[in-house]
Amino acid sequence: MSSSADKYQRPRALLLANIGQLLTLRSPSGKQGPRRGGDLNELEVIEDAAILCVAGKIVFVSKMREALRDPWVASNRKKIDEVDCRGRVVLPGFVDSHTHPVFMQPRLVDFEKRISGASYEQIAEAGGGIRSSLKAVRRATRRQLADGMFDALRRMAEQGTTTVEAKSGYGLNAESELKSLQAIAEAAKRWPGTVVPTLLGAHVIPQEFEDQGDEYVDLVCREMIPAAAKKKLARFADVFTERGAFSLEQTEKIFVAARQHGLGVRAHVGQLSRTPLSILLRFKVASLDHLDHVTEDDIRQLAQSDCVATLVPGANYFLGLADFAPARKLIDAGVAVALATDYNPGSSPTVSMPFVLSMACTRMRMSPAEAVSAATINAAWGLRLQDRKGSVEPGKDADLALFDVRDYREIAYWFGENRCLETVMNGLRQTEASG
Ligand code: NIG
Ligand code: FE
Repeated sequence: MSSSADKYQRPRALLLANIGQLLTLRSPSGKQGPRRGGDLNELEVIEDAAILCVAGKIVFVSKMREALRDPWVASNRKKIDEVDCRGRVVLPGFVDSHTHPVFMQPRLVDFEKRISGASYEQIAEAGGGIRSSLKAVRRATRRQLADGMFDALRRMAEQGTTTVEAKSGYGLNAESELKSLQAIAEAAKRWPGTVVPTLLGAHVIPQEFEDQGDEYVDLVCREMIPAAAKKKLARFADVFTERGAFSLEQTEKIFVAARQHGLGVRAHVGQLSRTPLSILLRFKVASLDHLDHVTEDDIRQLAQSDCVATLVPGANYFLGLADFAPARKLIDAGVAVALATDYNPGSSPTVSMPFVLSMACTRMRMSPAEAVSAATINAAWGLRLQDRKGSVEPGKDADLALFDVRDYREIAYWFGENRCLETVMNGLRQTEASG
């Protein structure tokens, strides 16, 4: 039993009453597939609304006065746990579809070096970067890693996140990658939200395989992927496809192995340099992430696919970059764009989806509505969880966030403070005293 288990209460039935603005994110015209173009602006806002959840699922969504007229609600009112939202905003819980939460320490030396002018790649070449997070993870127990991750999940939920994709990637040998995935499973069990585990054995090539990248790729394909799949510890395999990490050819090999073992695939691509996307798209890749460096041709191919383009402006912000991913071009071309924190100790130490929305608006010129769609329903598509997550509809999981604002645009407007009052995860409430 986790020490904070008492923070979560499972009401049999939960009524969110007197919602000022409810963003349902229901598909505007019953269209299938992730949101593209103008549809990203369609949130379906219901004023003066109510949501009834029973046994972890949403049962109905209506105007408040209709909820009060419902015979079941009327006769069970005393037994229903009721949250009076007092005219504030409720939306689907955020889906943070790209995080690296299994690490032990912040990378403060890298932070200071960057402030003095060194780049992410220069720091990595000088012995910092991803490789410098390995030693502590290899030494740590599974329990220590799970505790750190659980703490991150709790902080994420405090800011409205209810579903988290979590990558391994700081162990980089078979034993420590599996230990990291087991830590993810352990933390997930203690948290009422939903966690999607991803094997990122191909994050960088560890020191002991220096100049033997292909041998390391063999280890990922022959040991890590089969073991993670067999033990059901990962749903996806991810690759950092980049100069200084893994080539396109190596990525292909890893994708082939992952698909053979029943894992979905996703990749970090175009963060520091361009990699053509066509080969990756042939693998029915669920999501390609970062995409700072893309050509018109890449954008066209993305728009024609079901692949979600997950943008992570926290990394650009924290690395002090002047440029951000070309969100406007991507959206206007019809690409299904999602947003995520990329929570990690090197390039994006933030758990805050509201801050990501703020950066999406101010630095990538996304509208607040586009940013909300990207952080909920499209992120759910990027994890292939669109049938359960990302919108407020009967039958979907009861994953909700209540914000102390009257207009949803304020979620992206107030930055550097937490306006989330309460999060509901699979019908369980995490109530924060700070509200
Ligand atoms: O998404 N680019 C690769 N992975 C992370 C950074 C991880 C780290 O620096 O520790 C990213 O930015
Ligand atoms: Fe990442």
